[in-house]
Amino acid sequence: MTSLRVSLLLTVIFPLTLTGVGGFGLPRAPSDVYDYIVVGGGSAGSIVASRLSENRGVSVLLIEGGPSNEGITDAITPYVYPRLYQSMAYDWNFTTVPQPGLNGRTTAYLRGHILGGSSSINGMTLNRAPAADWDRMASLTGDQSFSWNNVIPYIRKNEAFKRPEGSRFDNAYDPAVHGFKGPLCNSLIEDDSWITEPTLTAAEEVGIPYSRDVNGGQPLGISWQQFSVKNGERSSAATAFVNGQSRARRNFRVLLNSKVSRILPRPRSNTTSGPLHFTTVEYRDANGSIQTVVASREIIISAGVMATPALLMRSGLGPRAQLQAANITVLLDVPALGQYLQDRCGLSAVWSVNSTDTDDQIDRNSTYFNELLQEWNEHRTGRLTQTGYRQMIWGRVPDDAPILSTIDDPSSGPTSPHYEIFPANKWAGTSAPPATGNFVTMNILISASNVHGSVTLNASNPMNPVINPNYLGSDWDMYVLRTAVRKAAEYMRAPAWRRWNATPVFDSSILDNDAALDEWIHTSSYGGVHGVGTARMGPPNSPSGTDVVGPDFRVKGVRGLRIVDTSVFPFVMNAHMMGPTYIMAEKAADVIKRGL
Ligand SMILES: Cc1cc2nc3c(=O)[nH]c(=O)nc-3n(C[C@H](O)[C@H](O)[C@H](O)COP(=O)(O)OP(=O)(O)OC[C@H]3O[C@@H](n4cnc5c(N)ncnc54)[C@H](O)[C@@H]3O)c2cc1C
Ligand SMILES: *[C@@H]1O[C@H](CO)[C@@H](O)[C@H](O)[C@H]1NC(C)=O
Ligand SMILES: *[C@@H]1O[C@H](CO)[C@@H](O)[C@H](O)[C@H]1NC(C)=O
Ligand SMILES: *[C@@H]1O[C@H](CO)[C@@H](O)[C@H](O)[C@H]1NC(C)=O
Ligand SMILES: *[C@@H]1O[C@H](CO)[C@@H](O)[C@H](O)[C@H]1NC(C)=O
Ligand SMILES: *[C@@H]1O[C@H](CO)[C@@H](O)[C@H](O)[C@H]1NC(C)=O
Ligand SMILES: *[C@@H]1O[C@H](CO)[C@@H](O)[C@H](O)[C@H]1NC(C)=O
Ligand SMILES: *[C@@H]1O[C@H](CO)[C@@H](O)[C@H](O)[C@H]1NC(C)=O
Repeated sequence: MTSLRVSLLLTVIFPLTLTGVGGFGLPRAPSDVYDYIVVGGGSAGSIVASRLSENRGVSVLLIEGGPSNEGITDAITPYVYPRLYQSMAYDWNFTTVPQPGLNGRTTAYLRGHILGGSSSINGMTLNRAPAADWDRMASLTGDQSFSWNNVIPYIRKNEAFKRPEGSRFDNAYDPAVHGFKGPLCNSLIEDDSWITEPTLTAAEEVGIPYSRDVNGGQPLGISWQQFSVKNGERSSAATAFVNGQSRARRNFRVLLNSKVSRILPRPRSNTTSGPLHFTTVEYRDANGSIQTVVASREIIISAGVMATPALLMRSGLGPRAQLQAANITVLLDVPALGQYLQDRCGLSAVWSVNSTDTDDQIDRNSTYFNELLQEWNEHRTGRLTQTGYRQMIWGRVPDDAPILSTIDDPSSGPTSPHYEIFPANKWAGTSAPPATGNFVTMNILISASNVHGSVTLNASNPMNPVINPNYLGSDWDMYVLRTAVRKAAEYMRAPAWRRWNATPVFDSSILDNDAALDEWIHTSSYGGVHGVGTARMGPPNSPSGTDVVGPDFRVKGVRGLRIVDTSVFPFVMNAHMMGPTYIMAEKAADVIKRGL
């Protein structure tokens, strides 16, 4: 395939200029050469770029496809974050292909299209995953520097934990496992909501153990959630690492509204041998013109779990047959790229309660909402500083579950969870909330799945990859979700909830019938937001084609190119994935700075 064919293909999407076609690698002005170019100003990319620019001797360019996060109220006010989802300017509007496990339904695959990436639109829950997950990461990559003990310094460096006021929250977190001086704020919800008491007491009543700190490495049990919220506002990778001081550094430039179309290697003469060296980034600027910039040291791809593999494929790296089918010149056959997508999925089960103090009234009474908004505007206090979640439960299927003798336990060990349940103080079901009533929702998610999906190129629309997470693709997935739904129902039958007259709004007779419960799971589950694995990391000397990057984050088989974002995780952790991504990005920045 000739490169002209590539150009013709891409011209449909990116109107290439002649410079774009022929003059790769030749900057038009000195300012178009940077030491490092980071593609994607999201959760990982913002951290990597900002950390690299701490060294004033190097120049760093961060290229983000979306707009600035600054002044976007919905991205600042914690409570209203769901308004940013889907078909808004701040989401990439990805959709999965029909999922057999979801009875053939498709589901939106939300990804932030804004500085800060998904950390600017997400639910702000801050997790780090169990210690055993990081130890497994170390063993899968053959690199002990990924073990829990060895990533703790990056956690501390990243985080400014806000100690709650007064002593009544002393047992709700463990100060020994936190950092206090990092850029990223981490805080608890400090209020006296009615829901805290039944949430914690019911756990005790049904034998769910209390874990003092969800981020202490042993999350199994019930614990308080922690949130990336600072003084009533979202604290994101953008607010913590890019806005303000960092961005003012003279060696750090941020390009917004600029969508990277391809990366290109240094042109080779007939006599050059050795691996391709990637130096050039081609993007479409805010006005739709194609531009190029050059990295004299490295290009770091941080476009996220969907866009990273899609970008590499457009550039000629990826599974050979797929690229050929799209008439893209194969520069390097990378069979693992886009494969091994793994995510979490689940459903929401709703109970009615007789508390009159649920968040339902915020959603349905605009007078009340406006009062709260005024309070938030004036003081950054009140209910809009919260997401409405407070505690979370991490659980395992019983040790004697028969299925465990027929499959390998996909979790990282006997103290690692298989599922997660977290209560919301309102109707958070997938259908529209009723006009009256008060509700509590159990969000129930798989956390240790054993299926993989994929991200592949759509030849006729290379910016929009074909996303197939393969949700609920195994008997194990179904078993875990059935177990978790029944656990949630048992928990909601505890005396502490009965005092609030908790009553399921779904037909609870299905709980006693596997087939009926499965049908409910297939029809009501939705996709996750925690995808990983599309550019997975493996040991330096793994069999060819089994992974994409090594423990140094370098793309194997080429020079000048690294990947740092959730796509490098070889398995989805027992976590909401923002926190693990932050840890990974801090580590990667350190690796790059040390020239490893
Ligand atoms: C709606 C939602 C809710 C979530 N809730 C939580 C939560 O509460 N807690 C939690 O821990 N995790 C949550 N997650 C998951 C978590 O946010 C992600 O796993 C994590 O942020 C991913 O980080 P990333 O750096 O890999 O990608 P992202 O943060 O998505 O960053 C990728 C960046 O690259 C940019 N980009 C992509 N393509 C291009 C291109 N071609 N050119 C230029 N720029 C490009 C994007 O615009 C984006 O800014 C949620 C995610 C979503 C979407
Ligand atoms: C998503 O769709 C909305 C509505 O159609 C649109 O305004 C927005 O620009 C789209 N986002 C992207 C990244 O294309
Ligand atoms: C490089 O190879 C091409 C095609 O084989 C040939 O046309 C060209 O003359 C060669 N150039 C040099 C400098 O050898
Ligand atoms: C886009 O065009 C406008 C008007 O010509 C110009 O002011 C602006 O600088 C351009 N932006 C970019 C990114 O080139
Ligand atoms: C690839 O090129 C062939 C031959 O020119 C053409 O028939 C085919 O439609 C192209 N495919 C795509 C996806 O552009
Ligand atoms: C809506 O909120 C306002 C302000 O708090 C309150 O006065 C009013 O009673 C509420 N309306 C309903 C129907 O609850
Ligand atoms: C590929 O893109 C085309 C054009 O946008 C679209 O019609 C088609 O449905 C896409 N295919 C898949 C499998 O998503
Ligand atoms: C809620 O219902 C329970 C059980 O019926 C009852 O004991 C309790 O008094 C009720 N509480 C309120 C606030 O109505």
